[in-house]
Amino acid sequence: MVGLDIDKVRASFPSLRSGYIYADNAGGSQTAQEVINRIVDYLSNTNVQLGADYSVGVQSSQRVADGSVAAALLFNAASVDEVGYGPSSTMLFENIARALDNDIKSGDEFIITEEHEANNGPWKRLAERRGAIVKYWRPVPAEEKNPYSLTYKTEDLVSIVTSKTRIVAISGCSNILGTINPVEASVKAVRQRAKEVGAPKVEVSVDCVAYAPHRKIDVQKWDIDYCVFAVYKIYGAHNAAFYIRSSALESSITSIAHHFLQVDGKPYKIQVGGPGYELVHGASGVVPYLLSLTPENNLDASFAAIAEHEQSLLDPLLSFLKDEKQYDRGVRVVGTSEIDLSRVPTVSFTVIGQKPIKSKDVVAAFDKKGGIGIRYGHFYAYSLIANAIPKLDINDGVVRISLVHYNTVEEVNKIVETLKEVLAQ
Ligand SMILES: Cc1ncc(COP(=O)(O)O)c(C=O)c1O
Repeated sequence: MVGLDIDKVRASFPSLRSGYIYADNAGGSQTAQEVINRIVDYLSNTNVQLGADYSVGVQSSQRVADGSVAAALLFNAASVDEVGYGPSSTMLFENIARALDNDIKSGDEFIITEEHEANNGPWKRLAERRGAIVKYWRPVPAEEKNPYSLTYKTEDLVSIVTSKTRIVAISGCSNILGTINPVEASVKAVRQRAKEVGAPKVEVSVDCVAYAPHRKIDVQKWDIDYCVFAVYKIYGAHNAAFYIRSSALESSITSIAHHFLQVDGKPYKIQVGGPGYELVHGASGVVPYLLSLTPENNLDASFAAIAEHEQSLLDPLLSFLKDEKQYDRGVRVVGTSEIDLSRVPTVSFTVIGQKPIKSKDVVAAFDKKGGIGIRYGHFYAYSLIANAIPKLDINDGVVRISLVHYNTVEEVNKIVETLKEVLAQ
């Protein structure tokens, strides 16, 4: 496997030329030139309403259709008729849950994780509307000496599957803990258990927003029904893409689109109104960008190269934070501290002990120094932070440093130098 040509990678992002260290990528990545070009080109040359028969209209429709081809590739969907776009992942999950109203009955059980609220709230509201019961798959500490080393155990998920389980809503990767959920294995275990206990219909929804920048999604291999990612976290602009398995589109989803539109079996059932044409066309630029990363010209190779480079970023950062010296100082990694492929370089921590430092103050010290962008808070994984063991201050949350493949080891070393200064207080 050929590694990333990091100079070439960085040259694809105009914003990186400033030398500013972007380390809040789990909040949103920088935008690749290819995406910017497509948005500008769409608005400059083909900005008309879709579906018209005049030449520019035909071209415009084709350009928006390119966005669906890209989303189908990125999800590895069986067909472009299983994907669509919307303004945000949050909105798309809400649309999916609303469109499921007619297929949920009182007493059905939903299993959800307390990760980002986007894949929680819509299910909780749907449960309330329909009288369904919500159960939680909660993380547990992985390391004895660190109660914040939270991780999910598949056996805990399987143990709460019953004959009434209807929806399982999990995330591909935690935007706080940085751990990758082995989705394929978890879903296989859930479906096996569901079969044993006689659950007639279990559908699985996976939030891939924090997963998609780092690893390749495979909705078919994972055997899932609903999936969403945000384009602005995978080097694109501010919109989001959804996948709904064709069987769910046919039999679970009731259209929430205009009553006179012909949407049977089509993703337009939940793609209400225009999806932001220039952004959908822009999203099609993510694929050529990713393919440009390695000579193999396939997404598997690109994501393998991304994962390999990201491990080299994770290593110095996590090694520093989990070191005995920092442990004694009061630093606790929130998440596991294994440096392997089970994790992405989204690293959260808190500083407790004799000389605690508020997350807010760690970030303020970085901001005062300048040149590096990191953040603190609950990052909308409100319930995870509120229920963490022992409890974190919900208003202060964690410090999160989140890197992606365009970051460099030199940048991470600079971040670690600043952390050393802050923690020396
Ligand atoms: C894991 C996760 N899910 C969902 C979202 C929500 O994404 P959007 O801004 O597209 O609604 C985020 C945003 O930070 C996220 O990190």
